[in-house]
Amino acid sequence: MQMPEGLTPEKAEEIQERLGPALEQVSEYVVRTRNLRKTYQMGKVLVGALRGVDLDIKRGEYISIMGPSGSGKSTLFNMIGGLDKPTEGSVYINEVDLAQLDAYELAWLRCRTIGYIFQTFNLIPVMTALENVTLPMIFAGVPEDDRKERGIELLRRVGLGDRLHHKPAELSGGQQQRVAIARAFANDPSIILADEPTGNLDLKTGKEIIGLLKELNEEKGVTVISATHDLKMIDVSDRVIWIRDGVIARIEERSKLQVEAALAVEDALIEEGGNSQ
Ligand SMILES: Nc1ncnc2c1ncn2[C@@H]1O[C@H](COP(=O)(O)OP(=O)(O)OP(=O)(O)O)[C@@H](O)[C@H]1O
Ligand SMILES: [Mg+2]
Repeated sequence: MQMPEGLTPEKAEEIQERLGPALEQVSEYVVRTRNLRKTYQMGKVLVGALRGVDLDIKRGEYISIMGPSGSGKSTLFNMIGGLDKPTEGSVYINEVDLAQLDAYELAWLRCRTIGYIFQTFNLIPVMTALENVTLPMIFAGVPEDDRKERGIELLRRVGLGDRLHHKPAELSGGQQQRVAIARAFANDPSIILADEPTGNLDLKTGKEIIGLLKELNEEKGVTVISATHDLKMIDVSDRVIWIRDGVIARIEERSKLQVEAALAVEDALIEEGGNSQ
């Protein structure tokens, strides 16, 4: 949630005029990727983390990106979220081509359209739950009174109305992830990107967090894209995208999803040596 230095209110207003209308045009697809490739150079070795991914994600969908460790899930997540640049290919958010944006425009768009949730919660330790949740609203220029009101409302929504002034170290892992979820919704995003949101939680807490994400997905019509290898995610997903060695191995629709079958697919992928590390 970084804002480049020098993004003054005037500049933000200028960007609003330029990008605002594009974002208001509601297209069916909230995320599209075309021939998305990412190659990392490690000394003399090139690692093809993504090797041509074409993806269309509809507004309001709940998508799980699954695959073995090292298959490229986080890399795909980082490209879609504008956190890193592809080596080749394009990412469109609400039909806006991220490659066409300068650093200010990208920060502006990310702050207003995407909420991020990470495995390690990534809360700011010296800030209270409420301060963590209201921080993205400062970047979006929301007035102080509104920030506080909305922050309290969001924390109540995730079940933490009685923990507003606790710092992350004074909260359990599940509670910290709830704060992170509230923070991700701060600016009413159209997309929530969650990279292994249950990776550091026990089974029961993980299920509660997934349940909460699913509720918010239905309640707010937000698109959830979750990179995970947690099969608990399958139950709530509209589609599961299996990736292996940086390419889409298969896409399964909810109607055809069966947890048993999914477990078998995962086993098969692992057996086939889907780990590219
Ligand atoms: N910054 C980087 N520099 C070099 N190689 C990287 C970098 N980030 C990822 N890779 C490599 O790219 C490949 C894909 O990594 P990625 O983190 O996307 O996998 P993943 O599916 O998220 O795995 P996990 O389930 O373990 O989180 C791996 O082979 C990894 O070693
Ligand atoms: Mg990962």
